[in-house]
Amino acid sequence: DIPAVRTVLADAFPIGAAIGPQQLVGNHAELLKRHFNSITPGNALKWDATQPTEGQFRFADADALVEFAVANGMAVRGHTLVWHQQTPAWVFTDPAGNPMTATPENKALLLSRLEAHIRAVVGRYGTKIGVWDVANEVIDENQADGLRRSRWFEITGLDYLRTAFRVAREVAPTATLYLNDYNTNVPAKRDKLYALVAQLRAEGVPVDGVGHQMHVNIDWPSVSETEAMLQKFVPLGVEQQITEMDVSIYRNDAESFPTPPADRLLTQAYRYRDLFALYRRYAGEITSVTLWGLADDDTWLDSFPVTRKDAPLLFDLELQAKPAYWGIVDPS
Ligand code: XIL
Repeated sequence: DIPAVRTVLADAFPIGAAIGPQQLVGNHAELLKRHFNSITPGNALKWDATQPTEGQFRFADADALVEFAVANGMAVRGHTLVWHQQTPAWVFTDPAGNPMTATPENKALLLSRLEAHIRAVVGRYGTKIGVWDVANEVIDENQADGLRRSRWFEITGLDYLRTAFRVAREVAPTATLYLNDYNTNVPAKRDKLYALVAQLRAEGVPVDGVGHQMHVNIDWPSVSETEAMLQKFVPLGVEQQITEMDVSIYRNDAESFPTPPADRLLTQAYRYRDLFALYRRYAGEITSVTLWGLADDDTWLDSFPVTRKDAPLLFDLELQAKPAYWGIVDPS
């Protein structure tokens, strides 16, 4: 048997995969249990999944994922409580049935919906979920203030973040609470995220960690830029996690291969090797690394940013270990 990734990384950090209920059975479940000791529900904890209609909660998928993790001694990352995507329209609809405008009444209503949502979702899982991505993708580095103009922001300003973190802390006092974002290696975005986390923590808002999604490709970003990303947050005294890593085999949106070329898979293996070597050097800061998928047969990159077959993970369509796996397991 080839080595288990979780065993190889045992001296550094837990290793996770984003999954759905479809990965809880058969060969996928076996692969998951063998190599990983953490999971993230890829969609099952998002607002559109858990509260599609006001007051009507659906927890079947999330329950199945969390119970699987508990039964197999795996950690769970809760993803995500507040986001500008996969949030039902009712959340931002006013009592007259119209899209909310920025009034004090609508702000109070939206914050009360947010609080009720977090109490229900976080409260259901208690200590079974140790980490929450309380808010996802709130930075827009093209804004002078760095804050994404989401419906949340337009209606509440920064109060949606203050409420979300405060309520999550109250309901799950031992959970670690994260702000999670993509492209955090890009200096302008990284610095805006840093400023927001510093401001919130100075106010006493309980932001414990910064999540770096790390949706990268075979030649971007460089290891040194990635190191600067990690280094930036060290003085803040926050935890850091790699939350959604995958390494696209494509260099731009125009490329498309029916099957992954061998040279791309080799380059990808070196990228996994080099980035994991960096993560190991920062193991005192990084408390978990999660890949956004289990194997190449199920990856969101097949439909983002364009539709084409990608191969961004450690295991192939037949669930066999790729060169990328060996880049982590046997970095020599
Ligand atoms: C993706 C899921 O993997 C897809 O199944 C879904 O259709 C869209 O969302 N950043 C995030 C994740 O924070 O929640 C996204 O997950 C991928 C990008």
